[in-house]
Amino acid sequence: MQEKGLDEKEVLEALEKMLRKDAAYSSGKILASMCSEPLELTKKVYTLAVEKNLGDEFLFPGSVELERKTVSMLGILLSNPDASGHIVTGGTEANITALWVAKKLSEGDRREVILPESAHFSFERAADILELKLMKIPLTDEFKIDTYQVKETLNHKTLAIVGVAGSTGLGVVDPIPELSDIALDHDVYLHVDAAFGGFVLPFLQDMGLYGGGFDFESPGVKSITIDPHKMGLCPIPAGGILFRDSSLLSIIGKSVDYIGRGRLKFTTLFGTRPASPAVDVWAAMKSLGRSGYRTIVKNCMDNAMRLYEDLKRLKDVHLLVKPTMNIIGFSCSKVDDGLVVDRLLERGWALSLFPTHIRVVVMPHTNAQHLKAFVSDLEEVLESFENHV
Ligand SMILES: Cc1ncc(COP(=O)(O)O)c(C=O)c1O
Repeated sequence: MQEKGLDEKEVLEALEKMLRKDAAYSSGKILASMCSEPLELTKKVYTLAVEKNLGDEFLFPGSVELERKTVSMLGILLSNPDASGHIVTGGTEANITALWVAKKLSEGDRREVILPESAHFSFERAADILELKLMKIPLTDEFKIDTYQVKETLNHKTLAIVGVAGSTGLGVVDPIPELSDIALDHDVYLHVDAAFGGFVLPFLQDMGLYGGGFDFESPGVKSITIDPHKMGLCPIPAGGILFRDSSLLSIIGKSVDYIGRGRLKFTTLFGTRPASPAVDVWAAMKSLGRSGYRTIVKNCMDNAMRLYEDLKRLKDVHLLVKPTMNIIGFSCSKVDDGLVVDRLLERGWALSLFPTHIRVVVMPHTNAQHLKAFVSDLEEVLESFENHV
């Protein structure tokens, strides 16, 4: 830090210069992100609560009440008006919190967590921190957890089962109702990671485009991760962790002398927490309503399905699975996927590379014209490799 401060204009200019290096969603070329341009309203209301601390209900009861109302709206979205939980920093914190609760609830030396190979790396973080052992289950031909293998792997050391409702790589949904039956039969905790799918599947259900179940409707589901900063169109950071009822959350409750004279219980990992994300999620859900989100999800799905059909027509492109939601995975049969991703990046397209495929996330910032241009660039890139052979 320099001795004398800069004036506001200088600070803003310096910041703008640096931030111009970042990619812009408005280009339509970011196909690698599960986040998008947040709603204008959420940018406006963010500043209403910047100085407020959700970790201090004594000082900020209004903000804490607002978080409760937000969690209640999320609970209704996930078929459980009685759900309790928090707005957190994202899917990673939510998944760690879920397994933390599962561990505190467990008796004896149950330390194994059964989860699909497709699960997000945040579970590896959770396992490291909580000293748990991950039992990764292979996927079926449809890229879902193999429930036969789940049953084979269950034993007296099993702490929890995790199902994914919208896998990071392909947007595939595990058979949650079946996992729920297994969890109930064996008296094991079941967590659903719907970080991405939480703001997609309810609206697909409304439109009759998804009917497999994924939420608290399945009685064995104890907790769900749902991220408003993904398809909820809220600014980062806004994650959500919901538990079936408050008794689950209270197991990690902790009171401290210096806040609220020991009368308050912290039920989050972090102490000081920003209120703005909760304000934002409340504002986004209130302003869009179910029909607003439905329209956004329908647009993304229409675009994703059109892209899927266009990619199908390209020779040398192999599509892994018909999309359940607005995520598409494909691989190139004659060229290394990594080379294709690099060439497309030279043309401005940001894509994600997975060990088995290239991923495209069709977010609201990408429209049908962008996707047509993408397919045409991909075709040219593939042809350029062919000409070199
Ligand atoms: C299924 C799933 N769970 C959890 C996460 C982690 O979310 P975050 O990056 O917000 O911590 C992601 C992120 O992509 C995800 O796809």
